[in-house]
Amino acid sequence: MNATPGPKGPPNRILYATMGVLLAVLLIGAGGFLWLSGNGANGPISIGGPFTLQDGNGKTVTDRDFRGKYMLVYFGYTFCPDVCPTTLNAVADAMDKLGPAAGRIRPLFISVDPKRDTPAVVKQYAAAFGPEFTGLTGTPQEIAAAAKEYRVYYADHPTGPGTDDYSVDHSSVLYLMGPDGRFIAPVRADQSGDQIAANLKKLMG
Ligand code: NI
Repeated sequence: MNATPGPKGPPNRILYATMGVLLAVLLIGAGGFLWLSGNGANGPISIGGPFTLQDGNGKTVTDRDFRGKYMLVYFGYTFCPDVCPTTLNAVADAMDKLGPAAGRIRPLFISVDPKRDTPAVVKQYAAAFGPEFTGLTGTPQEIAAAAKEYRVYYADHPTGPGTDDYSVDHSSVLYLMGPDGRFIAPVRADQSGDQIAANLKKLMG
């Protein structure tokens, strides 16, 4: 009987396809963290790049305005009920733990919710975590461009009938960028302030 496909038949193709999907799901599930940590065939994977956004006063700000300081970049939104405030509290704690070294770091909070996060809103939100924090927002196009540079995923998720009834699903990774603006490493966002401080200390040398 030849009804059963051989080992090189369709079942293997299905297996490979399934493995591909599983791998993709795992990568998304880990916030792409493992993938970001790896190196591409031609050196480090390119993360980050030029961005043009607006600060809390509605002034245009670009990545170049932060040269000379390490940028600790985080994408989120001020209405986030859990992950964003937890992460930013941990970063604030890490900044305290770092002492004088914290002066070399500028934590940047970039909104992925341009509709609700006006400059005034991100300014007040970022300031609540400490004076070193800078809140940035922009037009939907500006934010999409910045998120693309950092390979950040975000999508509105309706929670009710009203126009403001939505949450924003988003990847949650801290990106450490060097004083020259180049990507150094991702820092896991789901860590304590102590752990983040230890990571930063090591990465900043
Ligand atoms: Ni969030």
